[in-house]
Amino acid sequence: MKTPTKTKLRGFAPADYEAVIAVNRASYPDYTESLEEWRHWDESWDSTKYFKQRLVAEDRGRVVGWGQLSHMPWSFRADKYRVDVTVLPDHRRSGHGTTLHDELLATARTRGAIATQATAKESMADGVAFLASRGYRERKRDWESRLFVGKFDFRRFAGADERVAKQGIRITTLAAEKRKDTEAFRKAYDLSEDCSRDVPSVDPPTPRPYEEWLRNVTMAPNHLPEAYFIAIDAAGRYLGVSDLFSSLDDPSFLWQGLTGVRREARGKGIAMALKLRTVRYAIDRGVEHIKTWNDQRNGPMLRVNEALGFEKQPAWIVYEKDLSGSSQSRPSS
Ligand SMILES: CC(C)(COP(=O)(O)OP(=O)(O)OC[C@H]1O[C@@H](n2cnc3c(N)ncnc32)[C@H](O)[C@@H]1OP(=O)(O)O)[C@@H](O)C(=O)NCCC(=O)NCCS
Repeated sequence: MKTPTKTKLRGFAPADYEAVIAVNRASYPDYTESLEEWRHWDESWDSTKYFKQRLVAEDRGRVVGWGQLSHMPWSFRADKYRVDVTVLPDHRRSGHGTTLHDELLATARTRGAIATQATAKESMADGVAFLASRGYRERKRDWESRLFVGKFDFRRFAGADERVAKQGIRITTLAAEKRKDTEAFRKAYDLSEDCSRDVPSVDPPTPRPYEEWLRNVTMAPNHLPEAYFIAIDAAGRYLGVSDLFSSLDDPSFLWQGLTGVRREARGKGIAMALKLRTVRYAIDRGVEHIKTWNDQRNGPMLRVNEALGFEKQPAWIVYEKDLSGSSQSRPSS
């Protein structure tokens, strides 16, 4: 007979990194993460500004799941939190996820949260059902897409480089600019902030201080300055960006970072020229594919990616649970 499960919750400690990463590796095998990346995210988290509570769930002394309640610095509202709950696949449907979620939600309520946000891939039925039965409602969807670079045919894009070059625009990298311009990081930061305003999101994006951008982007262990492409005009103005960063745990692919072109420079072929350089980089690096995410309302970006041959995967759904009227909430969650 199966022994009844009793979840033991406790706060996360550095000794739990490997166990928590193992839970994610089993739950999200296509998106594995390394200890180095986790440590960097934690060390660069500004706990003077943002709240974070991370718990682990144990079953008979073994870590079987973890959960986290945290502010969302990229779209900050003091009264909104993100919830992550992940349980080892062979320990699911035993109540661990519920115990983690209940505890995190209790914290959110104590802190006066008006909503919690969570994300699930539409093809991962466990996560979708879990959130749906706990009062989460869909707020937005992002297509995940992958470009398998081995079969990429540059001949289909002949003329893309010349088109921008004729306008006096050159495509370069942050690595190259940094070598000759001490202001390169500052300029790349301004560009990134400007372009981020127009990426569709549930709540408006929050302007990030320069130091936070440096920590999150240029100091990240998976930052690739040679794959951080920038379009610069004849006057030296940074007009567009498209960057890739590495997946330390699974070098078979690269993550796409931000692709953006300043409003006044759109419609000139800059995004396409930048993205072609990312594809060339990926091929030279020998990876199999590039992974990207695009909001389903982001027509212009989706069109560029579709033209390049990115293949759509199941979407990722962002959900929110309204906590503003406590009577709407299930007493147990
Ligand atoms: C979502 C997730 C965390 C749930 O973890 P879990 O430990 O299986 O969660 P629980 O066991 O507490 O609850 C899952 C369901 O199993 C049911 N259940 C609990 N104990 C059970 C048992 N002994 N037998 C059968 N069913 C049981 C629960 O009632 C619940 O159903 P409900 O949603 O209709 O209430 C897990 O599926 C997961 O890690 N998925 C990937 C990550 C993810 O998508 N997370 C959600 C976004 S944050």
